[in-house]
This record gives sequence, C-alpha cells and structure tokens, in this order.
Amino acid sequence: MPDIPEILILDDVHKSYTGSDGVKRREILTGINLRINAGQSIAILGPSGSGKSTLLNLIGALDKADSGRITLDGQCLGEANEKELTHFRSNKIGFIFQQHHLLPQCTVWENILIPTIPAGLNKDPVTLERARRLLNRVALDDHRQKRPGQLSGGECQRVAVVRALVNRPLLLLADEPTGALDEDTATSIGDLLIELNKEESVTLITVTHSVELAHRMSRTYKLHNGTLEAGQ
Ligand SMILES: Nc1ncnc2c1ncn2[C@@H]1O[C@H](COP(=O)(O)OP(=O)(O)OP(=O)(O)O)[C@@H](O)[C@H]1O
Ligand SMILES: [Mg+2]
Repeated sequence: MPDIPEILILDDVHKSYTGSDGVKRREILTGINLRINAGQSIAILGPSGSGKSTLLNLIGALDKADSGRITLDGQCLGEANEKELTHFRSNKIGFIFQQHHLLPQCTVWENILIPTIPAGLNKDPVTLERARRLLNRVALDDHRQKRPGQLSGGECQRVAVVRALVNRPLLLLADEPTGALDEDTATSIGDLLIELNKEESVTLITVTHSVELAHRMSRTYKLHNGTLEAGQ
C-alpha cells in the first residue's frame, strides 16, 4: 500500500508576543513539533491561554512563527510571499471559529459562496453544485434564502462548516467549533465534522475544551507549557 502523505509538518515552532510593558516578549509556543497525515482528525486540548488559537493561526497562515518551520502540502509557509499565503488561506485551508462569523446582511447561500468570489468561482456550475450538495448534506437546503439572524446557533455553525469546505480545502481548522452551543447541538456538530473529515477526505484539526469531542478524533494532543504532548 502506498504511504499516506504527510500534509502538515511543524518543526520546532516558536511564537512569542510583546508583553503589556511593550518590551518584554512572552513565550507562548516554545518548540512545537507535529506531523499529520492526510485525512487524519486531530484534537488539541489545553487550558485557556495555553496558545491553542495562536497555534491554529500559525498553521492557517494568519500569523507568522518567530522561528521553526511549518510545511503545508509540501510548501514552507515561512518562505511563501503574500500572494502565495493568500492563495493558501483561501484554497488550502478552511476555518471554523467558536462564533460563526457569518455576514448578517447576506443570505445563507450568499454566505457560503463568499470564499469562492476571489477566484471568480461564484458562478462556476461545478462550484455551485458542490455548494448545493454540501448545504443538502448539512440539511439546510430549505434555509438557503434565510439570513443568519433567522437561524439557530447550531444551524449557523452548519452554514459556517459548509462555507469552510466550499473551496475543497486540504485542511479544516476548527477553533472551539462547539464552544458556543448547548450539549446536544455541540454533539451533532462534532459528529458532522468527523463525518465530513471522512467523506471529504479533509484533514481536520480541532481545538476544543471538550474531552468527549477530542476522544472521537483519531489523535489527541495537549498544549502544555508551550509544547504539544501526545494523548492516548
Ligand atoms: N496578538 C496578541 N498579542 C499579545 N498577546 C497575545 C496575542 N494573542 C494572544 N496573546 C496571548 O497569548 C496567550 C495565548 O493565547 P491564545 O489565544 O492562543 O490561547 P488559547 O489557548 O486559544 O486560549 P482560549 O482557550 O481561552 O481560547 C494568551 O496569554 C494571550 O493573552
Ligand atoms: Mg483560543
């Protein structure tokens, strides 16, 4: 059997922020090493303030590491120029946050097509068919003309999941995707993410405070003192 390719490699990644005195730097990530195969589902646990969102932002090319290497799909993010990083963010990575960040003035359908606009694919028949299929997959096809204010929190998060997947990303990054939801809704969003990880062959990295959600992923890690410790 051919080896499954490693889609994401982090080598000794460090990140610090300038402290409140404006001078002293606070070390948040102090040597992160991680290797993820295509198609895996990973959970990252850790206390508030341990640097989980900081780590996802580096992996998602929203921020730059101070040192170390992040290689996504064979390309080192630290060596990419702004144009390449923009391409990465919109085509290789899908983001889901605790709050759905849907645009309130746009309909569900318009919201999920927003990531397709920069590449001019919002009128492309194949893309529209994919958007329709994903919306149907999350059982929201009857809601496509509604605005986010007319949907429940769980429904909004399902729209955000579709929006994150519409461009066929290689990597889906979810930062506490169920943190703002009640327990049952959180469980159903967790189920959905794991099912889509398999159906779409998208690699999934989820930051969560939910040990229950974490244990449904193929691997778990804990962020502790700036480094990642492998869980069971
Ligand atoms: N842009 C920034 N400038 C300065 N400090 C920052 C910045 N972003 C985050 N921090 C600090 O870095 C630390 C890690 O923050 P981060 O948001 O990554 O934690 P987290 O593990 O995601 O926490 P939570 O579980 O509460 O979301 C915190 O102490 C935070 O205050
Ligand atoms: Mg966070």
